[in-house]
This record gives sequence, C-alpha cells and structure tokens, in this order.
Amino acid sequence: MTYILGISAFYHDSAAALIIDGKIISAAQEERFSRKKHDPRYPFNAVEFVLKNSKVKLSQIDYIVFFEKPFLKFERLLETYLAFAPRGFKSFCMSMPIWLKEKLFQKEFLFQKLKQHDENFDNINKIYFSEHHYSHAASAFYPSPFKDAVILTLDGVGEWATTTVATGNGNEIKMLKEIHFPHSIGLLYSAFTYYTGFKVNSGEYKVMGLAPYGEPKYQDIILKELVDLKDDGSFRLKMKYFNYATGLTMTNDKFANLFGQKVRNPKKDLLTQFHMDIAASIQAVIEKIILKLTESLSKEFKSKNLCMAGGVALNCVANGKILKNSIFKNIWIQPAAGDAGGSLGAALAFWYKELGNKRNPNLNKDEMRGSYLGPSFENNQVEKTLKSLNAIYEKQNDENLIDLIANELKNEKTVGWFQGRMEFGPRALGARSIIADPRSDKMQKELNLKVKFRESFRPFAPSVLREDLNDWFELNCDSPYMLLVSDIKKNLQIPMSKNDQKLFGIDKLNVKRSSIPAVTHVDYSARLQTVHKETNPRYYNLMKKFKEITNCPVLVNTSFNVRGEPIVCTIEDAFRCFMGTNLDILACENFILYKKKQDINLAKNYKNKFHLD
Ligand SMILES: [Fe+2]
Repeated sequence: MTYILGISAFYHDSAAALIIDGKIISAAQEERFSRKKHDPRYPFNAVEFVLKNSKVKLSQIDYIVFFEKPFLKFERLLETYLAFAPRGFKSFCMSMPIWLKEKLFQKEFLFQKLKQHDENFDNINKIYFSEHHYSHAASAFYPSPFKDAVILTLDGVGEWATTTVATGNGNEIKMLKEIHFPHSIGLLYSAFTYYTGFKVNSGEYKVMGLAPYGEPKYQDIILKELVDLKDDGSFRLKMKYFNYATGLTMTNDKFANLFGQKVRNPKKDLLTQFHMDIAASIQAVIEKIILKLTESLSKEFKSKNLCMAGGVALNCVANGKILKNSIFKNIWIQPAAGDAGGSLGAALAFWYKELGNKRNPNLNKDEMRGSYLGPSFENNQVEKTLKSLNAIYEKQNDENLIDLIANELKNEKTVGWFQGRMEFGPRALGARSIIADPRSDKMQKELNLKVKFRESFRPFAPSVLREDLNDWFELNCDSPYMLLVSDIKKNLQIPMSKNDQKLFGIDKLNVKRSSIPAVTHVDYSARLQTVHKETNPRYYNLMKKFKEITNCPVLVNTSFNVRGEPIVCTIEDAFRCFMGTNLDILACENFILYKKKQDINLAKNYKNKFHLD
C-alpha cells in the first residue's frame, strides 16, 4: 500500500490530508484543533489526526507532499519588490525575516517539524513540493466524477499565478494558461472586502452576503477604472489604485477618491447603503469576469465539464450563475476550495502525476465521501466526555433520536447537531451544524443574534433532501457542498404526503415563496446543500422525518460555532458552544442534551471569547 501525506501551511488555512493507494482517507484543517481561525501554522494537530485515524506512523508514510514551492513564492516577492522599488520597501523588509528564517529553507524546516510526530522518521528525501495552482487544479479534478474536464482555479495569489486554466483527461492534468500576480480576481475582491471594513481572507463572504441589499451603481466605474477586462475574460488590474503589491494595505487614497468615501472603520463606521452598493457592484463585476472566462473556455475546449478550486471558487453566487447560464453542463467544485484543499490536491497530484497511476472516475459520484473526512467519536467516548463535563444527558436509540429531534425542530427549537466525521472545507454539511426550522419567521434573527452573535443581515443556508430539490429550488443538479446558489421556486407546489392526499383530496399544495423565510435571501436566492442518503444517512433520516411531520424537506443549516470561532471539532468544543449560546438542544451522536436541564454555572462567557472579524 502507498501512503501519501499532503500538507498545506504557512499562508492561510493550513491542513493535512492522507490518501492510501490514491483513495482519500482523511483530511482536516489545523484551525479546528488549535481553535485559531484560519490558522496558518504548521498543522501539527491535523497531521497527528490523519496518522492516528489510519493507525500509521510518520516513518511508514511513503511520500510527503507540500502544496506549493517556496522558492517560486520567494522569487515572486523579490521581483514584485524590484518591479515597484523603491515603493514597498517597508512591507518587503517586514516579510523578509520570516522568509529567510522559515519559508525559504522549507525542506529542512518541514523535516524538523515532521520529526516531532515520529523520531524514527529520518528520510528527508520523502518530502516533495507541488506547485500552488497545480495543487488546486488537482484537488478540483482528481476527486471529481469526470473523466475529462476544463479546470479553472482562481484565488488571491499562490506563487505567481492567480488564475489558471488547465485540462484534465484521465490521470493527466495539463496546465495551459495563467494570469500572474498582481492581476488577481481574489485580490480585487479582497480589496473591496478591505474597503468595506471587513477582514481580508475571511470577510469575503460578508461582502457577497451584503451584495443583494445594494444596487451595482459602481459597476461601470470599476470596469472602467480598476479592471481592464478582455472579451475572453482575461484581465489586468490598474495597479495605481491598489496597495497590496507594495504596501501593507489593500487599497490607497486614489481608490477611496474614486468612490468618494474613506475605507470603512469597522469599529466606528456603520454599514450604510453606500457599502451595500459597493458590495453589489464588486459582486456584479466578479460575476461578469467569471462568466466571460467560463464562456470563452467552454467555446475553446468544447467540454461539458468544469472543475473549479481556489478561494474565489467559494463564491457560490457566481458559481450558480455559470450553471444558470448553461455555460457548462456539469460543474464540480472542490469543497475545500481554499488553500486547505491544496494539501489534498498535492497528495493526489503525486499519486497520479509522479507515480503515473490510472484513474477510474465513477460518473455518478465523486471521491470526497461527502467531505466527511475529519475526526469522529464513538458513543462510549461521547458518554465518557459528557460525564467528565458534568453534562446532563439522555441516550436514545437511532429511531428515537431522529423522532425527538425532528419534533423539537418543528417546535422552533435550535439544535446543535454533532454527528459522525467532521467536514473538510469551510462549510458545515450536517456533521458539525446548527439546524433549525426554516418555516419560522423569527428564526433568522434569533439564530444570528442569540446563537451566532453576528450581524442580523447574514442569511442562512438551507439543506434540502436531494429528491425534493426540484419542487423547491430552480436547480437541477447535486449541490452537496453548499457551493451553488439557486433561486427558490416562484410558485412552490409542494407534494403532499400520502395521508394528507387522502385527507385533502389534492396531491400538491400551493405555497408562497416566503414559506421558508429563515433561508430566503432578499433576492429569493439561497446557497443550498443537497442531502444524500449515501454520504450522510443520519442527517438524511432526520430530514426525512422532519418532512414527514411538516411537509417541508428543508432545514436551516449553519455552522456549529459563533462569530469568529472555528467550527467545533470535539465533544468539548460542542458542549462549550452549546452552553455559551442560546442553543436549546445538543444532539451528540446518540446523546441528547437539553439546555434547560444543564447546570447554568457551567456556561462560560462565550460571546466575546473569539475575536470579531
Ligand atoms: Fe490558493
């Protein structure tokens, strides 16, 4: 058997992934263990987890593959400095000591870190380096269900590339085109994230969420002044407005003057209509660029299939538009599209490219196992831990658990749902989720303010049973990783259960769009997850039961954490979050905990525990 360990680290979102004979076995982000969001440090805990999960020692691993090439990245920093010199001297000086100390000599540095897992690990030649965008492309194509595809990777920046086009066929990926730093859609979006007062690299979702509240009034200015967009979707940014290549901020005064307001200070300045219009404008521009790019790729390569990865591929609104405009028939996006997924891509790239192994994709299912690749806990471990935490709990068999929780959801209770293996990637998919009834009018506000401690405008995403998708949403394909946005059907016609059909004499019920207000965005769109029996049977069964008693195959699904906190990983994390928020119930494997039965002294002040982002 061939064991390959993939690692991404030292930028943002470090992670580890293990594949055995090309099969994806486990993967996790370091932030979940260290409890530091987007933790970029060497992923010691994540590596420990993937090794222990397969009961292997590091010295038994055949190849260790790092997701990018440090020297290429160093070259980019150096040349950027030289190209813009003497501007940028300060940021160059600030980054150099870290580069010289840790990053440039990464092979030796990594070797020393790896030795901490197993002192018998003594072969530095087992360490290999992939290229940043090659790792992204590999993470998008190899686990996909396609034999051939066009692969588009879009992110802020890796080594040099910010956008790449490749083709995948069988086990081969050919990199064909690249757009280089400083021209980057990711950094363009981040510049606006910065300008609207959110945190770069994590606040991009908020800009996307804010966009439907605004008008794209500044779209033309952005396209005229900031971006030179060609017909084929390739682009260049006009660098006189940006500061990221040389300075310590994303944008400069010229940028602010263009729109007539200063950068928003999140501590002092309120969000106004202006910021919503700015968000709507940059979102419209990003969509325009992505649509142009994908249209020209579709024409050029005449492929039905598109694979995507890179941080920008998490922009689910743009992804939904590629499908809606039928640019590609099929689209598959790596659920860990950001740099964490690079660890998996690097390992897979080695298996197929360096070792030349054949690839036999299953056209009906991808290789990600629903992205449930993290740690899980047996019932006996759960009970032991809950006891040690002085929790009051009751154990239920599978059937009663599903019954009880479905009924509590119906009674507008909020539930922490901690089941099975933790998700790999930024979305909670029904393993570490907070779930609730989407039909409730008060739910969006209540969840945002009392459970998540975040802005009330943030929309929630729905999970929907795959077989009921077409009755509720304008989408005709799987979206298991919550990476596609779709409109809620205008005229919802909900099929009635057999009993109700007999009772009412009709087989379909006309329902208004607003029947699921908690997951309906102002523009009637929703970022949705399709739930499949094969990958998450317990969540599927719960939703099926909920549908049986409410006629609604949809649940609110939001990540199990509060604002600024990484998604919960362990039972302790889950209990702490449950006790520190207004969650009503915690369902942890077969154990149910009711908030009102717990000793309130066990609640820690949780609201301000994590930094606000
Ligand atoms: Fe990246």
